[in-house]
Amino acid sequence: MGSNIPQKELVSATEHFIKQHFASDSSGHDWWHIHRVRNMAVHLSEKEGGNFFLIEMAALLHDLDDWKLGNGENTSKTKSWLTNIEIDKNDAERIEQIIEQVSFKGAGVETKADNLEAQIVQDADRLDAIGAIGIARTFAYGGNKGRLLHHPDIEPQLHNSFEDYKKTTAPTINHFYEKLLLLKDRMNTKAAQEIAEERHRFMENFLTQFFSEWDCKK
Ligand code: NI
Repeated sequence: MGSNIPQKELVSATEHFIKQHFASDSSGHDWWHIHRVRNMAVHLSEKEGGNFFLIEMAALLHDLDDWKLGNGENTSKTKSWLTNIEIDKNDAERIEQIIEQVSFKGAGVETKADNLEAQIVQDADRLDAIGAIGIARTFAYGGNKGRLLHHPDIEPQLHNSFEDYKKTTAPTINHFYEKLLLLKDRMNTKAAQEIAEERHRFMENFLTQFFSEWDCKK
């Protein structure tokens, strides 16, 4: 069954809904994260192709049911929203598939994005997790979860299962080794790989400086 509502209207209704939903998040997943991911996804799509409408919709909705932000409920807010706006059923299914493939589930857990749209949204979300903004978001998330900045005796772990990755309560610095520094080599598209290089270098410099200050070196 097709929908008669113009795609532009569906996108702007979704934007409005998401803006309100994520207005006051303090875990680094606020509206501005969604806004940046959407802009980056659009930018990558201009270079790499893909279905623009599906990419934009999936980028806007990608964190709505994220396991990191959920309250344990099993109901899909994404599904309810897509039904609500009477979007074409095929489009709704494809958007849900894209979103399912976006999330990082642990260093040793492969998260495969098998179509260009999912690859682009996944890249855009991962680019927002690295570089200067990635650093800021990581400490915001750690603070939100009550974690230490760093503990010299707690070693980073490369999680081989999503269950272990979800349960970690390690200091925030460990997250760089458990996820953020791995992302550069896991970008799907060439356009994203290029952007990731610079952001990755910035994080390495940050860590060098962090440990040198930690050890009271000049
Ligand atoms: Ni996200």
